[in-house]
Amino acid sequence: MNDNREQFGSRLGFILAAAGSAVGIGNLVGFPVNAAKNGGGAFLVMYALFVVALCLPVMMAELAMGRATQKGPVGAYGGLSSSTSKWRIAGLMGVLTPFMIGIFYTVISVWILGYLFMAATGDLAHLATDGTFGGFVSSNYIFAAMVGVVAIIYLILKMGVQDGIEKVSKILMPALFIMLIGLVIFVLTLDNASAGVEFYVIPEFSKITASVVNGALSQAFFSLSLGMGILITYGSYLSRKTNIASSAKMVAIADTSVAFIAGLMVMPAIFSFNPSVDPTELSDSSVSLIFVLLPKIFLALQASIGFIGASIVATLFFLLVFFAAITSLVSIIEVPVAYLMDEKKQTRQKALTTIGIFGGVLTIVASMSLGMVGFLTEMVTYGGKVKSFFDIIIDIFYDTILPLNGLLVCLFVSYRWKKHNLNQEMSDGDASYEGSLMQKYVNFSLGTFIPVILLVIFLNTVADKFFAYSLFGL
Ligand code: ALA
Repeated sequence: MNDNREQFGSRLGFILAAAGSAVGIGNLVGFPVNAAKNGGGAFLVMYALFVVALCLPVMMAELAMGRATQKGPVGAYGGLSSSTSKWRIAGLMGVLTPFMIGIFYTVISVWILGYLFMAATGDLAHLATDGTFGGFVSSNYIFAAMVGVVAIIYLILKMGVQDGIEKVSKILMPALFIMLIGLVIFVLTLDNASAGVEFYVIPEFSKITASVVNGALSQAFFSLSLGMGILITYGSYLSRKTNIASSAKMVAIADTSVAFIAGLMVMPAIFSFNPSVDPTELSDSSVSLIFVLLPKIFLALQASIGFIGASIVATLFFLLVFFAAITSLVSIIEVPVAYLMDEKKQTRQKALTTIGIFGGVLTIVASMSLGMVGFLTEMVTYGGKVKSFFDIIIDIFYDTILPLNGLLVCLFVSYRWKKHNLNQEMSDGDASYEGSLMQKYVNFSLGTFIPVILLVIFLNTVADKFFAYSLFGL
């Protein structure tokens, strides 16, 4: 055990930090719309099943790898095999992935901060005007907002695990939850709100197709911050007294509940704005929903609560999404920072500066690839589509690599580190784990059907994204 390793101060602190990582942009907007379009209650049940049956064992395996070694992904794969092992490459992928995801996540957080500022300063009518979003993302204002986001992340991470990540999560997560509940209560009082709730929860099993299943599992994986080295790194900050299995369950419950409750805010709002809306025609993208449709809905509220009231609701919404984005971004960036500290022996301050410089440059390039610079905006064509630098990062690191990283975790834990070592690690802090039904399920699933499912998703995504070809009819 490494005595100098930073640690979370309490189990609650860890659960809030991990839930903060899990609850992100996707939960608040992407999940509700996906659920409404793809079978409502039927999607919700399927998603919950995936979280419990497939994601939870992977989450426990990642946390256990981190705690066993007190290291991030590279040190964990190396330490549990050998320092010259090829498995270290899997660890390096577990560091590169969050670094690159951090780039597009920062770009989106920058937009949220910009919209938050404009909503709070009386610009709601402008936000609701067609063309505003396209103009904003290619304007110079984003660089000012970028400085703001980078400064916030830098300051939090500079304070370290307990005084930075944990303390901020303890404030932002309860605040996020209170704002979410407040907004849900308000939205449910709007005309026609019940039609939205109905559409959201009534099950329609006929809409569950193979591609919906594929999408739901990918979304659950991303939402729980799996395959990004985050939980290995957070596991390395856990005390041996922490019960990993029950903490992981709490994080999964918090993440899924927030996603579900967010639907009770978003769907009724959409129906109240347009009672004859056909949700199956809503855009799949969280981005167009947050920045294009929702500002129009907020502005329409001025008929009943006045412009100031509507601006307050919009401001609260963007603040809520911003809190969710910040607590996720902090966890994403902590992985490469911890890598530089562990493996390259840099101080936290120096590691942050290094990541800040490289990440900052790439974030600027990614931002400029959305219309500002032609060459970056139309960089390559694959899968039948012209892609920007920003699209390439999302296609490779968000859509494709996450299931592959998850697959490697399953194979490594089951066949290299070995299950008895996993059991021993899981039993520290949980005397009842050994011999439990949970232990049997985790061991069996990680070594059999979970890697097979992740492999199918990985292959299908590669075929679909890069060759516009659908395997297995997915
Ligand atoms: N888990 C985080 C999210 O859902 C990254 O946005």
